[in-house]
Amino acid sequence: MQGSRALAALLGAPALLAVALLLCGLGRPPPSLQRELEQRRRDLRLLSARARAPPARGLGCAAVRGATGVGWVGSGITKLVLGALLPPPSGQRVALKSVHGAGRDVSRCVRRHGHPDGCRRLATYKLLKELVLLRSLRHPGVVKLHGQCYNRSLDPEMKVTTILELGTPLEMIQLLQTPWEERFKICLDLIQLLHYLAHSPLGSIALLDFQPRQFVLVDGVLKVTDLDDASIEELPCQVDDDCKLEFPTKSFSLKCTAYGKCEGINEKMNLFNAYRYFFTYLLPHTAPLALQPFLKDILNATGELRYGVNETLKAFQKVLHLYKSGLYLQKKPSHLKEYVALNVFHMDSEDYKCWLSYSNLGCMLSVHNAEEAAAICNSHPHCQRFIVTPKKTWTGRPLALFQSNLTDLILGGNMVAYVKGSAAQRESL
Ligand SMILES: Nc1ncnc2c1ncn2[C@@H]1O[C@H](COP(=O)(O)OP(=O)(O)O)[C@@H](O)[C@H]1O
Ligand SMILES: *[C@@H]1O[C@H](CO)[C@@H](O)[C@H](O)[C@H]1NC(C)=O
Ligand SMILES: *[C@@H]1O[C@H](CO)[C@@H](O)[C@H](O)[C@H]1NC(C)=O
Ligand SMILES: *[C@@H]1O[C@H](CO)[C@@H](O)[C@H](O)[C@H]1NC(C)=O
Ligand SMILES: *[C@@H]1O[C@H](CO)[C@@H](O)[C@H](O)[C@H]1NC(C)=O
Ligand SMILES: [Mg+2]
Repeated sequence: MQGSRALAALLGAPALLAVALLLCGLGRPPPSLQRELEQRRRDLRLLSARARAPPARGLGCAAVRGATGVGWVGSGITKLVLGALLPPPSGQRVALKSVHGAGRDVSRCVRRHGHPDGCRRLATYKLLKELVLLRSLRHPGVVKLHGQCYNRSLDPEMKVTTILELGTPLEMIQLLQTPWEERFKICLDLIQLLHYLAHSPLGSIALLDFQPRQFVLVDGVLKVTDLDDASIEELPCQVDDDCKLEFPTKSFSLKCTAYGKCEGINEKMNLFNAYRYFFTYLLPHTAPLALQPFLKDILNATGELRYGVNETLKAFQKVLHLYKSGLYLQKKPSHLKEYVALNVFHMDSEDYKCWLSYSNLGCMLSVHNAEEAAAICNSHPHCQRFIVTPKKTWTGRPLALFQSNLTDLILGGNMVAYVKGSAAQRESL
């Protein structure tokens, strides 16, 4: 009963009434669907009681009604996501999530049960579950909830819309073509999220449907957006044999603890999924040479589930420290003394391109300092000069622009260009 009250508080009593109305009212769904609906409702009630989420706050139906510039941004099997501009005063762009009536989830259910209202409602429970979780979890790696709208004028088919911060879907192919530093950030964001989920206020949470498409990027930060398939229960067991964690390529045997739960199964499931969907693709290639052993260790330890989430996070933080402090740079003879420093005006002229450049006009890479930039310039056949720009990456490292063309240098500005000594002589700079 306490769960019922929690759910009522959460949804607002009239919304709960609408749910109840359908369950015992007219146009009763067939018994098989009815059973599924009751199961979902029970699960939602239990979750709400455990979550003790704060009551609904933030934006409501007025914001949804007044939204303009509505357009498709994504859809999955259950939900449809639209981008929209909120009315003043906020005027911000948000994502509006609702049940996808034409999605696979609802249409498969309709084929099976022939009851569109009941099927929509079944899917609505998923959205409501996600809403409860979004309200209870607070972390930069969880998409932010701005509000929600329950449209009861559509009774008995209650329509729920959640208002979320707008992101961009994660494009793995595109990510593979970004600099290592940016790919490392995605992985670091992910492990920070998994650390939070393993120690969340609701206990250890597993993302059962763990795939890149359940995440979005908001201002360069990775966030999980699809939470309807999250589990806050650890698998119950009697003996160790009950605790098998199976993946297509590998399976693990876990221990059954004295209180009858598979030890750390949620944390381990997330970690192995992070390894197979993210780390193997994003972490190793084009990483600085001296960091590769540390990255290999992270890959091996997560791929074998030797590390828990705490140790993995520590290992990531160590790599970040080595990278930021330049400790990964091998001690080599200085190249910088082969360059002449000249004060110039900065020009964004087109020049030679390089792999994983931060600019599509030319070759722009992040460096620790001018010394590292000199070593990079020496390793590029076309490079005759470089400028360490005031632009910084997320780790605080400056971006350096490498160029081959010397004829466009204008002396006298406040940027420093490092020109190869031999070239400077040739051009009599
Ligand atoms: N906040 C958001 N901003 C931008 N796109 C989003 C957002 N949330 C979800 N999406 C996009 O919509 C798709 C479907 O959302 P999701 O919650 O995963 O629904 P489903 O449960 O049907 O898989 C996602 O794969 C993603 O591409
Ligand atoms: C509820 O849905 C109806 C029918 O689609 C629509 O006309 C109405 O504006 C909606 N109300 C809100 C608050 O969004
Ligand atoms: C981890 O390293 C061991 C020993 O080198 C190797 O046998 C194993 O295949 C590696 N596992 C993964 C997932 O990389
Ligand atoms: C992992 O870290 C969390 C929070 O920092 C802590 O509460 C927990 O005890 C740690 N777990 C282990 C196994 O060290
Ligand atoms: C070098 O820069 C000058 C001046 O901007 C330009 O006219 C010339 O085409 C450039 N040369 C090359 C090879 O890009
Ligand atoms: Mg999804």
